[in-house]
Amino acid sequence: MSKNIAIIGGGNLGASIADGLLRSGFCMPQQLSITRRTVAPLKRFAEAGCFVSYDNAAAIKRSEVIILAVKPYNYTDILKEINPALNAQQHLLVSVITSISIGQLVQSIEKDVAVVRAMPNTAIAIQQSMTCLTHTGVSEVKLKYVEELFNHLGRTVIIDENLMDAATVLGACGTAYAMRFIRANIQGGIEIGFDAATANLIAAQTIKGAAQLLLEKGTHPEQEIDKVTTPKGCTIAGLNEMEHQGFSSSLIRGLVTSYRKINEK
Ligand SMILES: NC(=O)c1ccc[n+]([C@@H]2O[C@H](COP(=O)([O-])OP(=O)(O)OC[C@H]3O[C@@H](n4cnc5c(N)ncnc54)[C@H](OP(=O)(O)O)[C@@H]3O)[C@@H](O)[C@H]2O)c1
Repeated sequence: MSKNIAIIGGGNLGASIADGLLRSGFCMPQQLSITRRTVAPLKRFAEAGCFVSYDNAAAIKRSEVIILAVKPYNYTDILKEINPALNAQQHLLVSVITSISIGQLVQSIEKDVAVVRAMPNTAIAIQQSMTCLTHTGVSEVKLKYVEELFNHLGRTVIIDENLMDAATVLGACGTAYAMRFIRANIQGGIEIGFDAATANLIAAQTIKGAAQLLLEKGTHPEQEIDKVTTPKGCTIAGLNEMEHQGFSSSLIRGLVTSYRKINEK
Protein backbone atom coordinates (compact mmCIF):
# COMPACT_ATOMS: atom_id res chain seq x y z
CA MET A 1 0.00 0.00 0.00
CA SER A 2 2.86 2.36 0.70
CA LYS A 3 4.51 2.28 -2.71
CA ASN A 4 5.93 5.40 -4.33
CA ILE A 5 4.03 6.38 -7.46
CA ALA A 6 5.22 8.36 -10.49
CA ILE A 7 2.73 9.91 -12.91
CA ILE A 8 4.44 10.50 -16.25
CA GLY A 9 2.36 13.19 -17.99
CA GLY A 10 0.67 15.48 -15.47
CA GLY A 11 -1.97 16.79 -17.89
CA ASN A 12 -5.76 16.63 -17.54
CA LEU A 13 -5.94 12.99 -16.54
CA GLY A 14 -2.53 12.70 -14.85
CA ALA A 15 -3.24 15.68 -12.58
CA SER A 16 -6.73 14.33 -11.86
CA ILE A 17 -5.21 10.99 -10.79
CA ALA A 18 -2.74 12.88 -8.58
CA ASP A 19 -5.62 14.84 -7.01
CA GLY A 20 -7.52 11.62 -6.32
CA LEU A 21 -4.48 9.85 -4.85
CA LEU A 22 -3.78 12.71 -2.48
CA ARG A 23 -7.43 13.30 -1.57
CA SER A 24 -7.96 9.60 -0.83
CA GLY A 25 -4.80 9.36 1.25
CA PHE A 26 -3.74 6.34 -0.82
CA CYS A 27 -0.32 7.94 -0.93
CA MET A 28 1.35 10.80 0.89
CA PRO A 29 2.55 13.80 -1.16
CA GLN A 30 6.18 12.77 -0.59
CA GLN A 31 5.44 9.40 -2.22
CA LEU A 32 4.06 10.97 -5.38
CA SER A 33 6.09 12.20 -8.37
CA ILE A 34 4.48 13.99 -11.31
CA THR A 35 6.22 14.97 -14.52
CA ARG A 36 5.56 17.04 -17.61
CA ARG A 37 7.81 19.15 -19.81
CA THR A 38 6.25 22.44 -18.66
CA VAL A 39 6.00 22.07 -14.90
CA ALA A 40 4.37 25.43 -14.03
CA PRO A 41 0.79 23.99 -14.08
CA LEU A 42 1.93 21.46 -11.44
CA LYS A 43 2.98 24.14 -8.91
CA ARG A 44 0.19 23.25 -6.46
CA PHE A 45 1.47 19.65 -6.29
CA ALA A 46 5.02 20.84 -5.60
CA GLU A 47 3.66 23.10 -2.87
CA ALA A 48 1.81 20.13 -1.36
CA GLY A 49 5.12 18.25 -1.10
CA CYS A 50 5.08 16.10 -4.26
CA PHE A 51 8.16 15.64 -6.43
CA VAL A 52 7.41 17.67 -9.56
CA SER A 53 9.82 17.60 -12.47
CA TYR A 54 10.38 17.46 -16.21
CA ASP A 55 12.88 14.65 -15.47
CA ASN A 56 11.02 11.37 -16.10
CA ALA A 57 14.01 9.18 -15.19
CA ALA A 58 14.39 10.88 -11.80
CA ALA A 59 10.67 10.34 -11.07
CA ILE A 60 10.91 6.69 -12.08
CA LYS A 61 13.98 6.04 -9.97
CA ARG A 62 12.17 7.18 -6.81
CA SER A 63 9.02 5.11 -7.56
CA GLU A 64 7.75 1.54 -7.78
CA VAL A 65 4.55 2.26 -9.69
CA ILE A 66 4.70 4.21 -12.95
CA ILE A 67 1.43 5.62 -14.30
CA LEU A 68 1.84 6.56 -17.96
CA ALA A 69 -0.65 9.36 -18.75
CA VAL A 70 0.63 10.80 -22.01
CA LYS A 71 -1.03 11.13 -25.40
CA PRO A 72 -0.93 8.05 -27.64
CA TYR A 73 1.32 9.82 -30.17
CA ASN A 74 3.95 10.46 -27.44
CA TYR A 75 4.23 6.98 -26.02
CA THR A 76 7.02 5.53 -28.19
CA ASP A 77 9.39 8.49 -27.62
CA ILE A 78 8.65 8.54 -23.90
CA LEU A 79 9.13 4.79 -23.46
CA LYS A 80 12.41 5.08 -25.35
CA GLU A 81 13.44 7.86 -22.99
CA ILE A 82 12.43 6.10 -19.74
CA ASN A 83 13.52 2.60 -20.75
CA PRO A 84 17.01 2.81 -19.18
CA ALA A 85 15.43 3.76 -15.83
CA LEU A 86 12.90 0.91 -15.90
CA ASN A 87 13.65 -2.19 -13.90
CA ALA A 88 11.61 -5.40 -14.11
CA GLN A 89 12.11 -6.18 -10.39
CA GLN A 90 11.25 -2.71 -9.10
CA HIS A 91 8.57 -1.38 -11.41
CA LEU A 92 4.92 -1.91 -12.21
CA LEU A 93 3.68 0.06 -15.22
CA VAL A 94 0.08 1.25 -15.38
CA SER A 95 -0.89 2.80 -18.71
CA VAL A 96 -3.98 4.98 -19.11
CA ILE A 97 -3.05 5.74 -22.72
CA THR A 98 -6.01 5.26 -25.03
CA SER A 99 -5.76 2.55 -27.67
CA ILE A 100 -2.17 1.49 -27.05
CA SER A 101 -2.22 -2.23 -26.33
CA ILE A 102 -0.24 -4.06 -23.69
CA GLY A 103 1.54 -5.82 -26.56
CA GLN A 104 2.64 -2.49 -28.05
CA LEU A 105 3.83 -1.24 -24.67
CA VAL A 106 5.76 -4.42 -23.90
CA GLN A 107 7.34 -4.34 -27.36
CA SER A 108 8.57 -0.77 -26.78
CA ILE A 109 9.86 -1.50 -23.27
CA GLU A 110 11.87 -4.59 -24.27
CA LYS A 111 11.99 -5.62 -20.59
CA ASP A 112 9.88 -7.94 -18.50
CA VAL A 113 8.13 -5.12 -16.62
CA ALA A 114 4.58 -5.93 -15.44
CA VAL A 115 2.02 -3.85 -17.34
CA VAL A 116 -1.63 -3.12 -16.51
CA ARG A 117 -3.85 -0.96 -18.70
CA ALA A 118 -6.40 1.25 -16.98
CA MET A 119 -9.18 3.39 -18.44
CA PRO A 120 -10.40 5.83 -15.81
CA ASN A 121 -12.24 9.13 -16.26
CA THR A 122 -11.63 12.62 -14.93
CA ALA A 123 -13.97 12.10 -11.95
CA ILE A 124 -10.94 10.29 -10.55
CA ALA A 125 -9.97 13.70 -9.11
CA ILE A 126 -12.87 13.39 -6.65
CA GLN A 127 -12.62 9.58 -6.17
CA GLN A 128 -15.65 8.96 -8.39
CA SER A 129 -14.04 7.41 -11.46
CA MET A 130 -15.24 4.31 -13.23
CA THR A 131 -12.00 2.56 -14.10
CA CYS A 132 -11.77 -0.44 -16.41
CA LEU A 133 -8.62 -2.53 -15.93
CA THR A 134 -7.03 -5.14 -18.13
CA HIS A 135 -3.82 -7.15 -18.05
CA THR A 136 -2.22 -10.11 -19.70
CA GLY A 137 -0.97 -12.16 -16.80
CA VAL A 138 0.51 -9.90 -14.12
CA SER A 139 0.88 -11.52 -10.72
CA GLU A 140 -2.15 -11.60 -8.42
CA VAL A 141 -0.32 -9.41 -5.91
CA LYS A 142 0.37 -6.71 -8.50
CA LEU A 143 -3.16 -6.86 -9.90
CA LYS A 144 -4.63 -6.59 -6.39
CA TYR A 145 -2.47 -3.54 -5.76
CA VAL A 146 -3.69 -1.81 -8.95
CA GLU A 147 -7.31 -2.68 -8.12
CA GLU A 148 -6.82 -1.30 -4.62
CA LEU A 149 -5.33 1.90 -6.01
CA PHE A 150 -8.23 2.54 -8.39
CA ASN A 151 -10.82 1.37 -5.84
CA HIS A 152 -9.63 4.28 -3.71
CA LEU A 153 -10.45 6.52 -6.66
CA GLY A 154 -13.91 5.20 -7.53
CA ARG A 155 -15.07 1.83 -8.82
CA THR A 156 -13.21 -0.72 -10.94
CA VAL A 157 -14.00 -3.60 -13.22
CA ILE A 158 -11.57 -6.01 -14.91
CA ILE A 159 -12.35 -6.53 -18.60
CA ASP A 160 -10.86 -8.24 -21.65
CA GLU A 161 -8.32 -6.10 -23.43
CA ASN A 162 -10.40 -6.21 -26.63
CA LEU A 163 -13.05 -4.16 -24.77
CA MET A 164 -10.68 -1.34 -23.80
CA ASP A 165 -11.73 0.92 -26.71
CA ALA A 166 -15.37 0.35 -25.80
CA ALA A 167 -14.45 1.18 -22.19
CA THR A 168 -12.88 4.42 -23.39
CA VAL A 169 -16.13 5.42 -25.08
CA LEU A 170 -18.59 4.35 -22.38
CA GLY A 171 -16.49 5.21 -19.34
CA ALA A 172 -14.19 8.09 -20.33
CA CYS A 173 -15.98 9.85 -23.22
CA GLY A 174 -19.09 9.14 -21.14
CA THR A 175 -18.14 12.01 -18.83
CA ALA A 176 -18.45 14.42 -21.76
CA TYR A 177 -21.76 12.92 -22.91
CA ALA A 178 -23.14 13.27 -19.37
CA MET A 179 -21.98 16.90 -19.23
CA ARG A 180 -23.86 17.68 -22.46
CA PHE A 181 -26.97 16.02 -21.04
CA ILE A 182 -26.67 18.11 -17.89
CA ARG A 183 -26.04 21.26 -19.92
CA ALA A 184 -29.19 20.66 -21.97
CA ASN A 185 -31.15 20.22 -18.74
CA ILE A 186 -29.75 23.52 -17.48
CA GLN A 187 -30.70 25.30 -20.71
CA GLY A 188 -34.23 23.88 -20.49
CA GLY A 189 -34.38 24.79 -16.80
CA ILE A 190 -33.52 28.41 -17.56
CA GLU A 191 -36.19 28.55 -20.26
CA ILE A 192 -38.83 27.43 -17.74
CA GLY A 193 -37.81 29.96 -15.12
CA PHE A 194 -34.66 29.17 -13.15
CA ASP A 195 -31.52 31.28 -13.01
CA ALA A 196 -28.42 29.49 -14.38
CA ALA A 197 -26.86 28.67 -10.98
CA THR A 198 -30.05 27.18 -9.56
CA ALA A 199 -30.74 25.24 -12.77
CA ASN A 200 -27.15 23.89 -12.63
CA LEU A 201 -27.58 22.71 -9.02
CA ILE A 202 -30.99 21.10 -9.63
CA ALA A 203 -29.88 19.38 -12.85
CA ALA A 204 -26.56 18.09 -11.50
CA GLN A 205 -27.93 16.82 -8.17
CA THR A 206 -30.96 15.22 -9.86
CA ILE A 207 -28.74 13.36 -12.33
CA LYS A 208 -26.34 12.34 -9.57
CA GLY A 209 -29.31 11.00 -7.56
CA ALA A 210 -30.66 9.09 -10.58
CA ALA A 211 -27.28 7.42 -11.15
CA GLN A 212 -26.94 6.66 -7.44
CA LEU A 213 -30.36 4.94 -7.46
CA LEU A 214 -29.13 2.51 -10.13
CA LEU A 215 -25.79 1.92 -8.40
CA GLU A 216 -27.24 1.36 -4.94
CA LYS A 217 -30.41 -0.52 -5.84
CA GLY A 218 -29.09 -2.43 -8.85
CA THR A 219 -32.25 -1.58 -10.80
CA HIS A 220 -32.68 -1.02 -14.55
CA PRO A 221 -33.40 2.59 -15.66
CA GLU A 222 -36.86 1.60 -16.98
CA GLN A 223 -37.87 0.33 -13.51
CA GLU A 224 -37.04 3.73 -12.05
CA ILE A 225 -38.78 5.50 -14.96
CA ASP A 226 -41.96 3.50 -14.29
CA LYS A 227 -42.00 4.96 -10.78
CA VAL A 228 -42.08 8.56 -12.03
CA THR A 229 -44.39 8.24 -15.02
CA THR A 230 -48.07 8.78 -14.21
CA PRO A 231 -50.53 7.69 -16.95
CA LYS A 232 -51.32 10.74 -19.08
CA GLY A 233 -48.79 12.67 -16.97
CA CYS A 234 -46.16 15.28 -17.81
CA THR A 235 -43.12 12.97 -17.44
CA ILE A 236 -44.21 10.41 -20.02
CA ALA A 237 -45.34 13.18 -22.38
CA GLY A 238 -41.89 14.78 -22.16
CA LEU A 239 -40.06 11.46 -22.45
CA ASN A 240 -42.06 10.40 -25.51
CA GLU A 241 -41.44 13.75 -27.19
CA MET A 242 -37.69 13.31 -26.54
CA GLU A 243 -37.85 9.88 -28.18
CA HIS A 244 -39.84 11.26 -31.16
CA GLN A 245 -36.97 13.72 -31.59
CA GLY A 246 -34.42 10.89 -31.57
CA PHE A 247 -33.04 11.17 -28.01
CA SER A 248 -31.92 7.56 -27.39
CA SER A 249 -31.05 7.08 -31.03
CA SER A 250 -28.81 10.15 -31.09
CA LEU A 251 -26.98 9.04 -27.93
CA ILE A 252 -26.39 5.53 -29.27
CA ARG A 253 -25.26 6.90 -32.63
CA GLY A 254 -22.87 9.32 -30.91
CA LEU A 255 -21.42 6.52 -28.82
CA VAL A 256 -20.91 4.28 -31.84
CA THR A 257 -19.37 7.19 -33.80
CA SER A 258 -16.85 7.74 -30.99
CA TYR A 259 -16.05 4.02 -31.03
CA ARG A 260 -15.53 4.01 -34.81
CA LYS A 261 -13.30 7.07 -34.52
CA ILE A 262 -11.01 5.32 -31.99
CA ASN A 263 -10.62 2.47 -34.44
CA GLU A 264 -9.71 4.76 -37.37
CA LYS A 265 -6.01 4.14 -36.90
N1 LIG B 1 -8.80 13.10 -20.29
C1 LIG B 1 -9.51 11.99 -20.08
O1 LIG B 1 -10.67 12.02 -19.66
C2 LIG B 1 -8.89 10.64 -20.34
C3 LIG B 1 -9.56 9.52 -19.86
C4 LIG B 1 -8.99 8.27 -20.05
C5 LIG B 1 -7.77 8.17 -20.71
N2 LIG B 1 -7.16 9.27 -21.20
C6 LIG B 1 -5.87 9.11 -21.87
O2 LIG B 1 -4.88 9.62 -20.98
C7 LIG B 1 -3.80 10.17 -21.72
C8 LIG B 1 -3.59 11.62 -21.29
O3 LIG B 1 -4.73 12.37 -21.65
P1 LIG B 1 -4.94 13.86 -21.15
O4 LIG B 1 -6.31 14.24 -21.52
O5 LIG B 1 -4.51 13.98 -19.72
O6 LIG B 1 -3.89 14.61 -22.08
P2 LIG B 1 -3.04 15.91 -21.76
O7 LIG B 1 -3.84 16.83 -20.89
O8 LIG B 1 -2.50 16.42 -23.04
O9 LIG B 1 -1.84 15.34 -20.86
C9 LIG B 1 -0.70 14.72 -21.39
C10 LIG B 1 0.47 15.30 -20.65
O10 LIG B 1 1.66 14.65 -21.07
C11 LIG B 1 2.69 15.59 -20.91
N3 LIG B 1 3.86 15.17 -21.67
C12 LIG B 1 4.07 15.21 -23.01
N4 LIG B 1 5.30 14.78 -23.30
C13 LIG B 1 5.89 14.46 -22.10
C14 LIG B 1 7.17 13.96 -21.75
N5 LIG B 1 8.12 13.72 -22.66
N6 LIG B 1 7.41 13.73 -20.44
C15 LIG B 1 6.48 13.97 -19.49
N7 LIG B 1 5.25 14.47 -19.77
C16 LIG B 1 4.97 14.70 -21.07
C17 LIG B 1 2.09 16.89 -21.40
O11 LIG B 1 2.63 18.03 -20.78
P3 LIG B 1 3.86 18.86 -21.42
O12 LIG B 1 3.46 19.20 -22.82
O13 LIG B 1 4.02 20.03 -20.49
O14 LIG B 1 4.98 17.91 -21.35
C18 LIG B 1 0.64 16.78 -20.93
O15 LIG B 1 0.45 17.49 -19.73
C19 LIG B 1 -4.17 10.05 -23.19
O16 LIG B 1 -3.56 8.90 -23.73
C20 LIG B 1 -5.68 9.90 -23.15
O17 LIG B 1 -6.15 9.22 -24.26
C21 LIG B 1 -7.68 10.51 -21.00
